Amino acid sequence: MSEWPHDTWSQPATTPGLRLVPDLPRPVGDRFLAPESALDQEMVVRRRVPVTHDVVTFVLEPTIPGTLSFLPGQFVTLVVDVDGSSVERCYTISSPPTRPHLLTITVKRIKGGALSPHLHDRLSPGDRVGVRGPCGDFSIAAHPANRYLLLSAGSGITPSLSTVRAMADLAELDDVVVVHSARTPADLACGNELDALATTHPGLRVVWVCENDSPASVPWTGQRGRLDARLLASQVPDIAEREVFTCGPPGYMAATRQVLAELHVDSGRCHEESFTIGDRGGPTPDLAVLLTEVVEPTEEAAPTVTFGRSGRSVACPLGMTVLEAATSAGVPLPSSCGGGLCGTCKSGLLAGRVAMFHQGGIRPREIAAGKFLPCCSTPDGDIVVDA
Ligand SMILES: Cc1cc2nc3c(=O)[nH]c(=O)nc-3n(C[C@H](O)[C@H](O)[C@H](O)COP(=O)(O)OP(=O)(O)OC[C@H]3O[C@@H](n4cnc5c(N)ncnc54)[C@H](O)[C@@H]3O)c2cc1C
Ligand code: FES
Repeated sequence: MSEWPHDTWSQPATTPGLRLVPDLPRPVGDRFLAPESALDQEMVVRRRVPVTHDVVTFVLEPTIPGTLSFLPGQFVTLVVDVDGSSVERCYTISSPPTRPHLLTITVKRIKGGALSPHLHDRLSPGDRVGVRGPCGDFSIAAHPANRYLLLSAGSGITPSLSTVRAMADLAELDDVVVVHSARTPADLACGNELDALATTHPGLRVVWVCENDSPASVPWTGQRGRLDARLLASQVPDIAEREVFTCGPPGYMAATRQVLAELHVDSGRCHEESFTIGDRGGPTPDLAVLLTEVVEPTEEAAPTVTFGRSGRSVACPLGMTVLEAATSAGVPLPSSCGGGLCGTCKSGLLAGRVAMFHQGGIRPREIAAGKFLPCCSTPDGDIVVDA
């Protein structure tokens, strides 16, 4: 049963819909994007919850009440001061939109990383962080179906957590299979919670796949090895009838793409989110070309990128993005994903045109208003950027 008004929501009446709290974003065109600035604010860390030896969940509370509006599977950009520098990284919201008072992110420590070790070692209850978003359309809400298969590995389990929790809260966990791959049983994030949900919800099946035993622990008796076609076909015999969501590290994403193709799963039913930019398979991104007042390019030379407010200019050779040009000109622009996804680097294009290969981080009306994403844009002739 869906509470979505059918004039704005095109799911068939027979499809179980995800009912969400009031005033959640409605479909905009053929994409689902939250209202602009829905979460753009500081949030207060309320709790830290250790999840595994290298994963911690941070429970965040908005400072502006009533502003938590997102879809399961969406992510936010965290903006944190690390030793005087502002660092921005994307994190999927691991809590469900059905619990609209607090938001959680579940962060794996990346050794030598700029932000995740800082969050693990220094972010404490009472601290404040900047949160922007939500972004992304890796959401069951954008792909209504009767049966789902949620595939993940490592920290890629976070969209599945939000999704399963939301569906359980709404009594819509009717036919979902979660298949999660981890190195060892000690790396299974929220394993007990998902197992408990599967016990009380016959419509949820959870399959854990571990490569190795945990050191100094009893041998793993569940599925062992890496995800392959044999394992997946035996665990999910009706895979071709499911809407499939995959999230994990680059190697896993590539292998899973191949496995799904081997099992003849319709690629139109397969949706991916990678936490590593540059690893996104699937359809070729849209080419968006911005047209503004054209500045005549200087003869044969590499295009020049001029930063209007700082007054600096730099040559931008073939293949260099506007974001890289900005860095080389000493005009640091905020950035996070580096792949046209999160919208962090959004800037104004004052003159000239760019070729922009984005992945949903900018909306058509923003492009129409002269905005672009420098991280995934190359200049087509000389340009002037509002920075
Ligand atoms: C849409 C999106 C959602 C995300 N959601 C989550 C989430 O829910 N939980 C989570 O823990 N992370 C998530 N990430 C990854 C997160 O944004 C950061 O990339 C990650 O925390 C590392 O940041 P860092 O500053 O510590 O490391 P960085 O300083 O950015 O990187 C340090 C080194 O680690 C490598 N690296 C970066 N990320 C990874 C990774 N995930 N695995 C292995 N090596 C890596 C980099 O290539 C680099 O060599 C998400 C990323 C995206 C784009
Ligand atoms: S840095 Fe994410 S869209 Fe540019």
